[in-house]
Amino acid sequence: MQKIIILDFGSQTTQLIGRRVRELDTFCEILPYNKFPKDDPSVIGVILSGSPYSVHDPKAFQVDLTQFVGKVPVLGICYGAQYISHANGGKVEPTDTREYGRANLSTIDFENPLFKGFETNSQVWMSHGDTITAIPEDCHTIASTSDVKFAAYASSTNPLWAVQFHPEVFHSLQGKTLLKNFVVDICGSKQEWSPASYVETTVQQLKEQLGNDRVILGLSGGVDSSVCATLLNRAIGKNLTCIFVDHGMLRKNEFAKVMKMYEGLGLNVIGVDASEKFFADLEGVTDPEQKRKIIGRDFVEVFNAEAKKITDAKWLAQGTIYPDRIESLSITGMVIKSHHNVGGLPKEMHLQLCEPLQWLFKDEVRRVGYELGMPERLIKRHPFPGPGLAVRILGDITREKVRILQDADDIYIENMLNYVCEDGEILYDKIWQAGTILLSTIRSVGVMGDERTYDHPVALRAVTSTDAMTADWAHLPYDFMAKVSNEIINKVKGVNRVCYDISSKPPSTIEWE
Ligand code: XMP
Repeated sequence: MQKIIILDFGSQTTQLIGRRVRELDTFCEILPYNKFPKDDPSVIGVILSGSPYSVHDPKAFQVDLTQFVGKVPVLGICYGAQYISHANGGKVEPTDTREYGRANLSTIDFENPLFKGFETNSQVWMSHGDTITAIPEDCHTIASTSDVKFAAYASSTNPLWAVQFHPEVFHSLQGKTLLKNFVVDICGSKQEWSPASYVETTVQQLKEQLGNDRVILGLSGGVDSSVCATLLNRAIGKNLTCIFVDHGMLRKNEFAKVMKMYEGLGLNVIGVDASEKFFADLEGVTDPEQKRKIIGRDFVEVFNAEAKKITDAKWLAQGTIYPDRIESLSITGMVIKSHHNVGGLPKEMHLQLCEPLQWLFKDEVRRVGYELGMPERLIKRHPFPGPGLAVRILGDITREKVRILQDADDIYIENMLNYVCEDGEILYDKIWQAGTILLSTIRSVGVMGDERTYDHPVALRAVTSTDAMTADWAHLPYDFMAKVSNEIINKVKGVNRVCYDISSKPPSTIEWE
């Protein structure tokens, strides 16, 4: 399959370039700047990203441009543009004023294919400390702003373009057009990357890779592992065994509901109720990190005990997705974060890893889910933390506290699923993630009928986000909040006050613990 290679020089917007290319139904890979693949005929173009460094910085990342310049079309963005200039006899110098923010392209070479369909004065987004003061000899300027003479340039001898602005960000209003011009017109992408083609080729590859081998997969009830399971099920059917561990801190009736859904999908699932063990090990533990550690350790133990029973297993499948992989690889190729929830399988099992979603972004995973005919509600589920409600109960954990939180949370989420907004969209689908937190270390006074109460408050949390790295608190409708609050206080014994968490991330986090 045709692909675009995006070489990452460490910019915060590199992933966004990847998103934009995928939106053009074109497969792309983001690779560390020094990992350009040798002899890969499927590469149809290369994009060089921005960087936190100046080209003059001793730590600046260097790349051998001859690996691809003159062979496939190349587009340098920001640092990429400056690096190409710097490495080919041009000049890059610090500016007195940092060029940052909105700017307009006051001159544009409309004849150049990169600017096909551009409007005069098109708005772009600049973000750089250095600027190009001379371009290489074989290059010519194709766009300028009032402050930046070489806002964009192109080579006359090679298929090479460079822009000092960021076409991938929203504020470059015709950035998508520019990237389409590059990817489709210049590189010749056939725009064949689609969920349907992905499912077809992946199922075929999995059949070849796995043959008649048995595969184990840990299911969490979340979107990624469920899509992974459904894809594998299509490829190898009953040779896939899924394990779903109930630690007792899932949402109300979640274990039973999700098991039923999985069985409806035809999956071969072993459900393990290990809640006794988890509650026993968590007894009296109040420290958030300690709680997480105990749950993580117990989870591995329970999962391993089940996995070991499947003696002929050869593979461990995981629902790892592309952002997990990118976060795990620094541009020097070192692992900086381990992302797997199911870690530490016993070495003696000699399992090989199978990660069929490893190239997909979250929204693509959802599109693949639709393509596989999975239920919409499963695909649109909000993320839920591995340690479950344990990180949404302040203080120690007991079955009774979990019961109270499950009841309150169920009212919150069910109402959210039933609330239709003015634009016709369901409120739940507008929210990245919602959940209830039991503030069980706090009590407050209330009055219920003629009786005084002295119970716990719950906090409602709802955030909007695109990747959970940053998040804003959601502006929920007041009538919705009023209904939820009334229902929780009237129906959930043990709760006499409802608050709404209006903190964004950063500086807060999405979960309370
Ligand atoms: P925070 O609280 O760090 O959460 O803003 C960011 C996202 O990660 C989820 N989360 C977890 N997911 N295991 C998981 O699988 C965990 O231990 C865990 N902790 C937080 C959180 O729900 C949010 O989506």
